[in-house]
Amino acid sequence: MKLKYKEIIDKMTLQQKAALMTGKDFWQSRDIPELGITSMFLADGPHGIRKQAAAADHLGLNASIPATCFPTAATMANTWNIELGEEMGKYLGEEAVAENVNVLLGPGMNVKRNPRCGRNFEYFSEDPYLAGKMAGSYVKGIQTNGVSACLKHFALNNQELRRMSIDTVVDERTMREIYLAAFEIAVKDSKPWTIMSSYNMVNGTHVNENFHLMKDILRDEWGYEGVVVTDWAGCNDRVQGIMAGNELEMPSCLYGAMDIEESVADGYNIMPPHCTPDTPGQQYDRVMACLDADGKLKEELLDECVDNLLDLVFRTEKVFEGLDKGKAREFDVESHHAMAMKCAEEAMVLLRNENNTLPLAAGTKVAVIGDFAHQPRYQGAGSSIVNPTKLDNTLEWLGFTVDKKSVTKTSSENEFGFDVVGYAKGYNRYGKSKSSYISQACDLAKKADVSIVYIGLDEVTEAEGLDRENINIPKNQLDLIAALKKQGSKVVVVLMCGSAVEIPFADDVDALIHAYLCGQAGAKAILNIIAGKVNPSGKLSESYPFAYEQCSSAPYFPGKQLTVEYREGPYIGYRYYDTAKIDVRYPFGFGLSYTSFEYSDLDVSDKGVSFTIKNTGSVDGKEVAQLYIGKSDSFLFRAAKELKGFSKVFVKAGESVKVEIPFDEYSFRYYNVKTLKWEIESGDYQIYIGASSTDIRLEGKSKQKGSDAPCPYDAEALGAYYNCDIKSVSDDAFKALLSSGDDAVKYPLPPSNYQFYKSKIFRRKRMVIGYNSTVSDLRYSKRWVGRAFSGIMRFAVKFMRGIGKKSLSNTMVMGVIHQPMRGMAKFGGMTRKQLDGLLAMWNGHFFKGLGMLMKGGKKKDKKSEDNTGNDGPSSESAVENIE
Ligand code: BGC
Repeated sequence: MKLKYKEIIDKMTLQQKAALMTGKDFWQSRDIPELGITSMFLADGPHGIRKQAAAADHLGLNASIPATCFPTAATMANTWNIELGEEMGKYLGEEAVAENVNVLLGPGMNVKRNPRCGRNFEYFSEDPYLAGKMAGSYVKGIQTNGVSACLKHFALNNQELRRMSIDTVVDERTMREIYLAAFEIAVKDSKPWTIMSSYNMVNGTHVNENFHLMKDILRDEWGYEGVVVTDWAGCNDRVQGIMAGNELEMPSCLYGAMDIEESVADGYNIMPPHCTPDTPGQQYDRVMACLDADGKLKEELLDECVDNLLDLVFRTEKVFEGLDKGKAREFDVESHHAMAMKCAEEAMVLLRNENNTLPLAAGTKVAVIGDFAHQPRYQGAGSSIVNPTKLDNTLEWLGFTVDKKSVTKTSSENEFGFDVVGYAKGYNRYGKSKSSYISQACDLAKKADVSIVYIGLDEVTEAEGLDRENINIPKNQLDLIAALKKQGSKVVVVLMCGSAVEIPFADDVDALIHAYLCGQAGAKAILNIIAGKVNPSGKLSESYPFAYEQCSSAPYFPGKQLTVEYREGPYIGYRYYDTAKIDVRYPFGFGLSYTSFEYSDLDVSDKGVSFTIKNTGSVDGKEVAQLYIGKSDSFLFRAAKELKGFSKVFVKAGESVKVEIPFDEYSFRYYNVKTLKWEIESGDYQIYIGASSTDIRLEGKSKQKGSDAPCPYDAEALGAYYNCDIKSVSDDAFKALLSSGDDAVKYPLPPSNYQFYKSKIFRRKRMVIGYNSTVSDLRYSKRWVGRAFSGIMRFAVKFMRGIGKKSLSNTMVMGVIHQPMRGMAKFGGMTRKQLDGLLAMWNGHFFKGLGMLMKGGKKKDKKSEDNTGNDGPSSESAVENIE
């Protein structure tokens, strides 16, 4: 490969090259000033900048510099507006430049396999086409500013439980057509400069070291030329990572303890003084050993990685030329807030509007009910959390003076013309029932024509690091709505949460707006919709089942102790409901407007489809028209139809517009596991134009001359898939799916649970603790010390939850309970020898382990025992040494 920065690379020592492959501190890459290599600042996040000035963390604990909090990805996906996504991306990129951020760690774009995934609010959709297009639009917008976006988390990171150690078991076709397709579309559409590899494993290999994902697919097939960075502390074996083409390990080794100043003062910035060469997270020694001694890692390969990384450094540094990177610059807070409002307005989904309850006319007597009106829920918890520049408050816009504890009506005027009769809290945000709240709300509602009831999920229920236990709305909120309806009040519900919930009251209320997590300007955007200043045009980017159990992945989510098995194959979201003919509460793509649209004149050509949309109502509006394609006589098992295009159009009242949606490389293809290629089946395809996935307005046909590849499947062995009977797929059927096709993509079905042995005296379950075992797993360790440690930690989590410290309890689950030993070592700042000592203690060699723990912090000759090239953290190696 021809190196772009050969001149610089030729001047670098081997050490410098190796050192560049890992971060300098929590947020920055390394710099080598005398070679003109500056360090890049990487910062979250997906819907606003989270640049931390002081204490650094990746869990969203410490406050960051104020930035505009735009709606989260789940919300933006409901706009189905890629131009708007790009525009928002431009604003994000502008703020990144203002804050001297080179790489913005977003958008997050994992496909939503199951509504309980704790990070769904950060992701776009259950559909890869929509997710890919939206994510690509952000990237384009961000990168026009000269800074890099970072698609994350590549790939198949669809749950939070044990996210750093879980092994995703999935067949090749499902992986490519559903989970990778979203990334593929975004990569090809927008050419991101950075991608973040995910924490999990896929079919037995850590993603960051997975040659199939990282090399064969990402680089060779999709032509990705940018940099891959690990998720924070996601590095397992640095050498394998580099060999798979991962240029940057983040963060640096010593969480929190690393001082940038010290590092800068340290000559070439290779090793901060307090790091020993065998600090496990950094694994610098191992890279050096593999380069130096066993030659496992070739210098040419390292050079390629360095070249790629330098390209990102120099590319993202240009915009800062002549600027003082030590100082933040200003951006126009007001115009950015206005942009956040525009996005929020377009994302609102009107789910119900009986008898045209909405919009409310000026002069309507309104009761405002619900804690979420007082303290809006506008973003999710975790690393994406933004410290907003300002925060719109519903009650303030309606003439109240508000502080954290009290609400006082101070004005009878408001710009929406409502006659506001008062505010009632209605329920306790964190779920505890209190009947007096309900009776106060009912009394207030009696004085009004309409009650606007703000409900949703609280901040600790939807959070990075853990999945939701169910998809319920808290019972005290449901009781409130039932009581209001029982007394005959007219009820408009505003729902605030970032992912699908069961909505049992949907048919009982008069109107329902799903505001999702709509960012810092969301409160006003909602009022603009209620007052009719804005006509709602959002449509759901995910399905809303009546009950969680309807979900195809419900029986398999979130997996067992070691693996999560994607037994449902490609049937997720509407693909499943449609194919299995299951009714849902609200289908994918659904959303109402204050006007109505008529579809006509479908024309299907070789190039794509065209049709006409007429606005048949009395107000202007926007409609999201969706193109779905199916093949009912396919020799494959496949979904009844799949989204293959969409268009959002503005139509004036009474007028019509012609809509064109072109076919593209994704329209008719499927992945053939036998030929290992994308193929097209010959024959007729059904073309559907819908206002949602179930509201099909126009139908047509398209004939395709395919590639005539052989069917890769044994239909008998895969009967469950051909019949879409995937709720209880047997081991045999899943094995048949995993082993269909060419040997290169045949995967075994590994054990899903730990291999236990029985303790000698009480015959209790015990297991060997390795680098990838988690703190939670220590409950099965041989010696009491590990079990006690795990027990204390698990007790602490429960205790914190019990006394109402839910957020802290969540952080402990994410940061401690499901933390693998290798991650503990990295964040705890111990050496690999010390970690081995800990493992020895837990595996039954208390004193030997203690000795290693105490002595292991000392700097050692790196040539001694660490240069075998085989001592990277894999569960076995540590264990073998000990047992
Ligand atoms: C998250 C990433 C985030 C990183 C840095 C990780 O825990 O998974 O999405 O970018 O932390 O905060």
